[in-house]
Amino acid sequence: MTDVLDQQAFRYSNDEQPSLLCEEVTLSDLAREFGTPLYVYSKRQIVQNFHSFDETLKSSGKEHYVSYALKANSNIELLKILAEEGAGADVVSAGELLVALAAGFTPEKITFDGTGKTDAEIELALKANIHAFNVESLEELSVINGIAEKFGLRAKVSIRVNPDVDAKSHPYISTGLKENKFGIDMENAREAFIYASKQPALEVVGIHVHIGSQITSLDPFIKAARSTVKFVNSLRVKSGIILEHLNFGGGQGIHYRNVVRHPLLPKDELGEEGEYVPSLSEFVGAVLPILDQTGLKIIFEPGRAIVANACALLATVLYTKANSKKKFVIADTGMTELIRPCLYEAYHQVAPLELTAGATQKVDIVGPICETSDFLAQSREMPTLKRGDSIAILCAGAYGYTLASNYNLRPRAAEILVDGAEYRLIRERERVEDVAGVARIENAGLHALVS
Ligand SMILES: Cc1ncc(COP(=O)(O)O)c(C=O)c1O
Repeated sequence: MTDVLDQQAFRYSNDEQPSLLCEEVTLSDLAREFGTPLYVYSKRQIVQNFHSFDETLKSSGKEHYVSYALKANSNIELLKILAEEGAGADVVSAGELLVALAAGFTPEKITFDGTGKTDAEIELALKANIHAFNVESLEELSVINGIAEKFGLRAKVSIRVNPDVDAKSHPYISTGLKENKFGIDMENAREAFIYASKQPALEVVGIHVHIGSQITSLDPFIKAARSTVKFVNSLRVKSGIILEHLNFGGGQGIHYRNVVRHPLLPKDELGEEGEYVPSLSEFVGAVLPILDQTGLKIIFEPGRAIVANACALLATVLYTKANSKKKFVIADTGMTELIRPCLYEAYHQVAPLELTAGATQKVDIVGPICETSDFLAQSREMPTLKRGDSIAILCAGAYGYTLASNYNLRPRAAEILVDGAEYRLIRERERVEDVAGVARIENAGLHALVS
């Protein structure tokens, strides 16, 4: 979303030897102080991203709220920033709900998604009095009704419809096709709304649609908006069901290429304008006039567009090597900290923390994990890197830490929040004892080895 990127938090200093900065902080200083791998977030970028979204909607005069999808990143310190700015929260588990409440999100702006909510999660969300459950099946409606009745409560529900629209994103992050597990087909959705409206402990307040993630064309959004609006209007006219809100989900794509620029950086292979991503105002301008035809309050649930470009994952080069076919740069981070390249063949820009003039070379930047799919970049033209150099993997703020794992018994990395020239640790690095088991290490008399 170009307008979100207008004031990049990550940029090179203007020195003769340019250093990559996050706001006013030099990233190589952070790498030295806290070690790598290290996630570094910009507070300014998160606030700016949220307001770019919120203000565009505010200026339309439309009743709305922007519900941040916690699955993208659920660090409580980042959540507190968004709660304070007035965002809502979109959660998918008891854990996310509790963290959202602890971070200060008001329950009236919390929605609960997911195809497989457990009875315990439904009970918790009911007692927390959230705004709405986004319900995915008839059976789920019946279960929520039963649990609400048991506790003498009423559950506010929004039914997720599946508009059968191809989001033209990676197949693993497309959710709006009939072959996907999400939502209820448009043909069966009316039956679901009628069923829900007859249940004593359910209050049908909305409709929900989310067609996928990292969507970089407007067409799928427009198609989904049109079919949802058509459905809402016919639901009112033919079945007399009047809703309060239309939740249009998230999925807005962001720029992953050319995020930081410098004449000393090799040119991106797609060229300057190679990656088309509609701007936020183009997105809102395209869908809002359509959604507005319902007269309903509008909710958007962006995750990636709020946090992705607000983070760089810092790493250190451990080794370099070459064979007759390829050159490899082996970093101390990989799929355990950022699984997106491995899972979705996703592109992330990789940039040295310190830039020097010199030869470039085509390399695979890979991690230390014992999997062939453990790569960060393939056949990428890069300034020459050597052991000990530090690099940044850009746009690692969404689906980075939240999809991190302890695979190979690797401790999860630390997280730092930068605010202007200040910074602070917002999550400690796990220790090797945490993942290997403190008791096991002590019982085996190995403590001296790790302390
Ligand atoms: C229902 C729902 N809403 C919102 C989101 C956030 O998507 P994104 O991060 O692409 O904006 C997701 C993520 O897949 C989702 O499943």
